[in-house]
Amino acid sequence: MCGIVGYVGERSAQDVVIEGLRRLEYRGYDSAGIALVGAHGLASDKRAGKLANLEKAIADHPLPAATTGIGHTRWATHGAPNDVNAHPHLGAARRVAVVHNGIIENFAELRARLEDDDHVLVSETDTEIAAHLLELQVQSGVDLTTAMQRVCSQLEGAFTLVAVDADDPERVVAARRNSPLVVGIGEGESFLGSDVAAFIEHTREALELGQDQVVTLTRAGVEVSTFDGRPAEGRRYHVDWDLSAAEKDGHDWFMRKEIFEQPRAVADSLLGRRSASGRLQLDEMRLSDQELRDVTKIIIIACGTSFYAGMVAKYAIEHWCRIPVEVELASEFRYRDPILDYSTLVVAISQSGETADTLQAIRHARVQRSKVLAICNTNGSTIPRESDAVIYTHAGPEIGVASTKGFLTQLVACYLLALYLAQVKGTRYGDEIDQVLGQLEAVPGQIEAVLEQAPAIYELARTHRDSGSVLFLGRHAGYPVALEGALKLKELAYLHAEGFAAGELKHGPIALVDQGLPVLCVVPPQGRDQLHDKMLSGIQEVRARGARTICLAEEGDERITPYADELIRLPRVPVLLQPLVAVVPLQLFACELATALGHDVDQPRNLAKSVTVE
Ligand code: M6R
Repeated sequence: MCGIVGYVGERSAQDVVIEGLRRLEYRGYDSAGIALVGAHGLASDKRAGKLANLEKAIADHPLPAATTGIGHTRWATHGAPNDVNAHPHLGAARRVAVVHNGIIENFAELRARLEDDDHVLVSETDTEIAAHLLELQVQSGVDLTTAMQRVCSQLEGAFTLVAVDADDPERVVAARRNSPLVVGIGEGESFLGSDVAAFIEHTREALELGQDQVVTLTRAGVEVSTFDGRPAEGRRYHVDWDLSAAEKDGHDWFMRKEIFEQPRAVADSLLGRRSASGRLQLDEMRLSDQELRDVTKIIIIACGTSFYAGMVAKYAIEHWCRIPVEVELASEFRYRDPILDYSTLVVAISQSGETADTLQAIRHARVQRSKVLAICNTNGSTIPRESDAVIYTHAGPEIGVASTKGFLTQLVACYLLALYLAQVKGTRYGDEIDQVLGQLEAVPGQIEAVLEQAPAIYELARTHRDSGSVLFLGRHAGYPVALEGALKLKELAYLHAEGFAAGELKHGPIALVDQGLPVLCVVPPQGRDQLHDKMLSGIQEVRARGARTICLAEEGDERITPYADELIRLPRVPVLLQPLVAVVPLQLFACELATALGHDVDQPRNLAKSVTVE
């Protein structure tokens, strides 16, 4: 949800900012803009559409050389994605330029006040008021840091603001509240980014800012303060991945690269989880065994794909630990007045760690005295910081807007959590836990086997270029896989796609089935005989009504053959772990179909990677 870059140092600020925006473009791509400050004063350009439009504009009308600059790539909230609403926004005297991520909730009131004072605001955005307010402050004689502190104290909502002042060309100032911002620390230069990808090619030393903090960047270094002007400190950390992780590595899309990284990502997420004595250990589990034993109910909150990981977690936790689990969309959670107390463990799943709906839900849970455990892929992000405990997934950076390796590693973390609870509560014997860990450790190789079928799956996907609608069926742990398969197709191929619990079909959705309708069926392993039989009945019902079935079934399942128009083989795994292998063909299918339709797979329309507004 908007990418922000800032730089001050010795290099060409234009090059650093544009390169940073390229790496952050996955966060929003409705428009892009840049502002540079140098001896000439302030120069700026901004264009609707992708970053390439801005690059072309700058190539046609070069900006003056400068070593201080800020940039923005937008996911529109207030106002249409056009040139005028694009960031940066400038003050009335064109002295201050600002870029912004988030929503300033009291902007209408602040805008009215400015307009009463004869300020002319040219855009429909909430951001432009910040440029005017900052400029008023610096014009009154304070420096940009003080101006930022004063202005932020008047703002409500969630925001990251980054500003430059034409009269102070060696300084970039930023502030954050409930919105992501990281600082990169170099030698004689400093960087800002919505995430570390913005500056990873220049430095891997980063500084995480706290809530309601202002940071001032100069060549000499970085100073942090609070909104009320007191000195503060950020948390320094070393980024443990390098530039190659943020490159496509020969693939056409980041998404495709990330699908193929899944064996490694799953293996990394399992690394170091056994103690010398063979017991399961979770390093970042800051909840004591006694606190976990006191848990009588678990509520999992998440959005989108992470929500589907939560649905799988419910099956695993209830089966292995016998603790009741509710799974709830984070955006709905606090509005239903959930029953929470100290014995409820809330598990928040978020790849980015910045999803506003999930963040607000965990804040609500903590106010009600529940403990919160985050499952997150992004070190230093807000959700794990505000949680009592965390299990980090080790997927590496996920750039494609559609989550793939993020999902698989969330599943791994959910299984680990379930097994850990079973170990602490004694609901499973040590050898049973050991057996499942062994099965999990075999999964990377099994995903490799699925990936080997990619050419056949691509071929199949391309034959569906003209399908107007696709259904996905699953049962038990295969049901969330069906939902995830449908979501992938919606977001990438812009197709009508629905996932159903196969048993529910006959209660209404079967009316959708018509001649030739493609139905992808996630068939449970045969080991769960009742489930398998019931799934077979569901498949026969849709086939009888003309559907074309594409079945995902385990090796050796011959009973499925007569009912499958197309068959994709899955490795043999226990039913609870099947989502780890079953979702992979669906990712490949969606990626290839969207490619065949000519869509931008990494940056689907209307979407952004991390949704930092509610
Ligand atoms: O970063 P999060 O896991 O909190 O994001 C949640 C959803 O926004 C995300 O999973 C979204 O549904 C993806 N685009 C799915 O591919």
